Amino acid sequence: MKIALGADHGGFELKEKIKSHLLEKGYEVLDLGTNSTASVDYPKFGHAVVNKDADYGIVVCGTGIGISIAANKVPGVRAALCTNTTMARLTREHNDANVLAMGGRIVGDVLALEMVDIFLSTKFEGGRHTNRINSIETI
Ligand code: RB5
Repeated sequence: MKIALGADHGGFELKEKIKSHLLEKGYEVLDLGTNSTASVDYPKFGHAVVNKDADYGIVVCGTGIGISIAANKVPGVRAALCTNTTMARLTREHNDANVLAMGGRIVGDVLALEMVDIFLSTKFEGGRHTNRINSIETI
């Protein structure tokens, strides 16, 4: 499974930890930057992740808010800003989220990696949620 990663300077350090974690677990990682703590504009990195041929994207900025807003501008993207493991599970089960967004200045590393694992291993439930997901695309 290929995972695209994107972050601004506020999410850079967490993005690096997520990258190591994913590589250790055998995932293929597409790191789309940023590559330092130097200040950059988050929309570019939110957008880059979802324009690539990856199974899922993970985006991180300071709060996770700006970069998730940017990612959600792309048709077909369902980027979910999560702050706990319940949200990470439910957004896969109910929203079929394809991008996980987190705030590097909001969540701790241990929680973030747990959310990544849950997000990537939880399946969409389908059923009653399918029409709802399809309705989003018509907006
Ligand atoms: C950058 O300072 C910060 O605004 C950004 O990382 C993010 O939190 C925006 O939503």
